[in-house]
Amino acid sequence: MEDAISRPRNTRIAVVTGANRGIGLEVCRQLAVNGITVVLTALDEGMGAEAIEKLKGLALSDVLFHQLDITDVSSIARLANFLNTRFGKLDILVNNAAVGGVVYSQDPVDDLESREEKFNLMDRDQRLEWLCRNCRETYNAAKEGLQTNYYGTKHVIEALLPLLKASDDGRIVNVSSDFGLLRHFRNEDLKQEVNDVSKLTEERLDQLLDQFLRDFKAGTAEARGWPVAFAAYKVSKAAVNAYSRILAAKQPALRINCAHPGYVKSDITLHSGLLTPEEGASNVVKVALLPDGRVTGAFFEEGKKLASFV
Ligand SMILES: NC(=O)c1ccc[n+]([C@@H]2O[C@H](COP(=O)([O-])OP(=O)(O)OC[C@H]3O[C@@H](n4cnc5c(N)ncnc54)[C@H](OP(=O)(O)O)[C@@H]3O)[C@@H](O)[C@H]2O)c1
Repeated sequence: MEDAISRPRNTRIAVVTGANRGIGLEVCRQLAVNGITVVLTALDEGMGAEAIEKLKGLALSDVLFHQLDITDVSSIARLANFLNTRFGKLDILVNNAAVGGVVYSQDPVDDLESREEKFNLMDRDQRLEWLCRNCRETYNAAKEGLQTNYYGTKHVIEALLPLLKASDDGRIVNVSSDFGLLRHFRNEDLKQEVNDVSKLTEERLDQLLDQFLRDFKAGTAEARGWPVAFAAYKVSKAAVNAYSRILAAKQPALRINCAHPGYVKSDITLHSGLLTPEEGASNVVKVALLPDGRVTGAFFEEGKKLASFV
């Protein structure tokens, strides 16, 4: 097979989800610059092909494309099959794909220049307030947020786990968010239950997420102490964090960590962020390429390990 012949046996293989734009595309570029063979995945084949062309234009040739919709189990299975046949292992999985869990009131890239001028006069809090004012939290968007950000990520991990275990240094980086830290939960019992991963099970996590959606639909989410403002996004990322910790304990041979890239100018923030996608991606790649050491089940905020998920 062409790839088996041209690649040294110890070449590391990485998969990045949602990599046609934003932080994901930059993560692919930076991994490829580090000599890693990158499988750039995207929901849309056309956008994926364009992204590959951009990287090839930078003389990064060891980048391949594979379609992946993280909410579609058959699409995930096709990717797993492809990786198994082509490489027989996976060294690094970067779960980057996500949605905002909200309906935006403006196009992410419309009139970007004048928006940028406005943002330059704002601090972080003012930018977040602006973002909040330009989003609506609907039930359908909240449900899509959980389905994509948590269940989609989890299904990708489950399907690729055997390939990661076939690597001698398998790593998962879940691109999470400081919005997923438990300080945003205002119900102390709930916060403690999600934080105590020695008792929390995946089944219980599912029940809690179902409860969140019921409360959201009934308009009682705030009163019950769920996070406010980007509620579904925060809950989905808190679930990703909790699941990462549960899995890290079950799979001690792997390194499974969460990375907050920082507040980045990308479509998901309507480009209101403070960092460039390059800067955000480097905070993710740092975690993917952690030097030897057995850090697992940890949360990294802009490259620095936090003491807890609270
Ligand atoms: N930007 C920030 O300030 C910030 C802060 C904290 C965490 N993060 C996290 O960083 C990651 C990257 O976000 P970003 O800022 O680069 O946002 P972005 O520019 O909006 O990129 C999101 C990516 O996810 C993809 N995606 C969405 N649903 C998908 C699905 N079902 N299957 C496959 N791909 C899907 C999108 O594909 P399409 O182009 O096809 O829609 C896009 O490529 C996310 O996990 C986000 O939560 C971002």
